[in-house]
Order: sequence, then structure tokens, then C-alpha cells
Amino acid sequence: MDEGLHQARALLSAATRVAVLTGAGISAESGIPTFRDAMTGLWSQFRPEDLATPEAFAANPKVVWAWYAWRRELVAEAAPNAGHAALVALERRTPHFALITQNVDGLHARAGSRNVIELHGNIMEDRCCAEGRVLTPADELPGTPPRCARCGAPVRPGVVWFGETLPPRALEEAFAEAQRCDVFLSIGTSTVVEPAASLPFAALEAGASVLEVNPTRTPLSAQATIVLAGAAGEVLPRLVGWS
Ligand code: OAD
Repeated sequence: MDEGLHQARALLSAATRVAVLTGAGISAESGIPTFRDAMTGLWSQFRPEDLATPEAFAANPKVVWAWYAWRRELVAEAAPNAGHAALVALERRTPHFALITQNVDGLHARAGSRNVIELHGNIMEDRCCAEGRVLTPADELPGTPPRCARCGAPVRPGVVWFGETLPPRALEEAFAEAQRCDVFLSIGTSTVVEPAASLPFAALEAGASVLEVNPTRTPLSAQATIVLAGAAGEVLPRLVGWS
């Protein structure tokens, strides 16, 4: 990996525009389970269609609410790790930097990243099911799940569920950043969930160098310019020159 690391550092130093895509793997070292890792991934223990679809919430609101309440606790107890911190440093020294994330844990912002595009929403947010607006505790009536004080509809977590469309502006910005960057960094994602999985390929097609950081191979690996095989919390600090 040292040769690859050396080349990757040179590409990043020369880049004016850097776009980053992160997935659950970057938060694994903060203690937040990924989705598809065998044994530890959430989708090896739970069925997404039972918990992460609008239909599941309509059929079993209490079960879905409780599952998200448990995940919210995990996120609240977690702290950003060295991988998140290295991306903050990279943003500070890069003229144009965008951090696109599929994660809903808000750890990039908590670490200090500024230009974060959240493709799948934020698990700490509450939204009114009917009106879609973000609610504060003062806008809610108690219950499991709570209800919107204005219209009475159930309150849901502010994440994108299977079968739902992504926030259109975030998606548009993400593709624009992928298509105009010099270097695209894909970190800790299995690169199988669309449309995010297409971002590194869009960057490649537009002529960017694409770097991948992941301990296991993904559908991107064979086409990536450089693959840095390892954990984000170890590779990223080295990539930004901390060790
Ligand atoms: P996945 O669980 O599909 O993939 C996690 C990736 O992280 C795998 O490729 C692992 O090899 C890698 N990984 C594990 N530990 C790592 C570490 N320490 N450092 C770096 N990489 C590591 O998660 P995502 O690709 O984020 O969507 O999944 C995409 C979407 O599928 C999620 O946003 C979620 C899920 O269903 C929704 O909920 C809408």
C-alpha cells in the first residue's frame, strides 16, 4: 500500500477540487455498525423491508420507531474517529472541497467538516410524515411515535427509506461535485446502493482520479485509480500526512 499511498498523496496535493463520498465504513471505528458486513452489519441481523421502508412504518410504527430510537442512542454515544478528523484537515487545505455522505449519523459535522452533503438524511432529525417539515420537540405531541402538533400525523426519523427518492438538491450537488473534481475519494462504502454508487463512476467518466479506501474490494475497486486497502481510521490519517 505504501506506493499507492505515496501516489494518492501526490494526487491530493496537486488537486484544486476534491470530492469525497463516505459510507458506513468510516463510522465503523466509532462503534456504529455498517449495513452489509457479514456478522456485524445491520442487514445481517434485520430485514430492511421490515424496518427501513414507508410501508414498514405504516404497518408497524412502534417497532420501526423503537429500532430508530436504538440507532439514535448508538449515534449519540459515538464520537468521530481519526478518519473523520483527517477529512476535516483535508477540507481545510483544499481550495474546493465537498464531502458527500450516505451516512445519517452526523459525525462529519460533529468532527468539524463544513461542506457536507447528506444524501440519506440525518437520523437525529424528526420530520412530520404528512408535511415533510423538520420538527423540534415543541412541534410534537408525545407518543410512540410522537405526533405532529400541527396536523396530527406521525413523526418519523429524517432519513431516506428504501423506495423513497433522495433529496433532489443534495443529489444534484453531489453529481455536480463528482463531475467537476480532480480527485474523488470513495471511503467505506460497498458501492452497491444507487444512486450514490454511481458517483465514483461519474467522476471517472469525467476524467477524475478515483481513490478508494476500504478493507474489502467493491464493484469500484477494479476501476479505481488507486485502491488503499485498509480501515479509514488508519489509512486517512496517513493520507493527509499525519503519520
Ligand atoms: P455498507 O454496509 O453497504 O458497506 C460498508 C463498507 O464499509 C463495506 O464495503 C466495508 O468493507 C467497509 N468498511 C468496513 N469497515 C471499514 C473501515 N473501518 N474503514 C473503511 N471501510 C470499512 O454501507 P454503505 O455502503 O454506506 O441506506 O451502504 C449504503 C446504504 O445502504 C446506506 O446509506 C443505507 C444502507 O441501506 C439507507 O438506509 C437508505
